Amino acid sequence: MSKISMKPTNDYCPQTLFLYGTYSEDGKADFGLFCWFSYIHDGELGVMACIGGSKRTLDNIHRNKVFSANLVTEKILPLADYMGCVDGNKPEKMDGLNLDIEKGRVLDVPVLTASPVNYELEVKQFIQTEGGEVMLCSIRNVLQDELLGGKKDNSTEKLAEIAPVQTTCERYFSWEGKNLGAWGAPMADVKKNG
Ligand SMILES: Cc1cc2nc3c(=O)[nH]c(=O)nc-3n(C[C@H](O)[C@H](O)[C@H](O)COP(=O)(O)O)c2cc1C
Repeated sequence: MSKISMKPTNDYCPQTLFLYGTYSEDGKADFGLFCWFSYIHDGELGVMACIGGSKRTLDNIHRNKVFSANLVTEKILPLADYMGCVDGNKPEKMDGLNLDIEKGRVLDVPVLTASPVNYELEVKQFIQTEGGEVMLCSIRNVLQDELLGGKKDNSTEKLAEIAPVQTTCERYFSWEGKNLGAWGAPMADVKKNG
C-alpha cells in the first residue's frame, strides 16, 4: 500500500465528545461541546483536555479550576450540537432550555442529568500554547447512571445502551458508525421555551 502526504487533519480519527459544564460569575451553568479530550496516567488515571481560543468555558475554568465532562450520547446530540455552535458569551445561550442540571458529588460543578457518564475534574496544570491551552486534570469523581450498573459484565450491551456519539470529518457518527449529520445540523431539533 503506498501513502500520500496530507496537510494536518484529524479526519478518519473518530473522537468521543463531552459537554464541559462550568459555572459563570453570576452562578449560571454554561455548557460547551469538546472533542479534544483524552486520558493520561501518572500513577492514577487523569484527563488531558485542550481548549482553543478564548471562550466562556475557559474563562470559567480559569476562575474555578474545576469543570464537569458529560459524555455525549445520541439522545442528547441535538443539545450537544447546540452547545458547540452557540457562543457562551451570548447571554441567551442557556436561556429557555429545559435542562435537568445537578451538582457534582465532590466538586462544585454543574452535571447534566441526561448524560449517563460524568467526570468531575480538577485542573492540576494549565499549559499555555500559542493559540490555546492544554489542561491536565485529576478525576475527582465519576458518576454513572445506576441503571447501567447491572450491565457491567457485558460491555457490548452497556455501550449499545449508552450510545456514545463519535465525531470526525466535521460530522457526527453513532457508535456503530451510522452518519448522524454534519456539525450544526442536529441543533435544529432543540426546542426553547418562550
Ligand atoms: C463537534 C464539536 C467539537 C468541538 N470541540 C472543541 C474542542 O475540543 N476544543 C475547543 O476549544 N472547542 C471545541 N468546539 C467549539 C466549542 O464547543 C464552542 O466554542 C462553544 O461555543 C464552547 O462553549 P462556550 O462558548 O459556552 O464556552 C467544538 C465544537 C463542535 C461543534
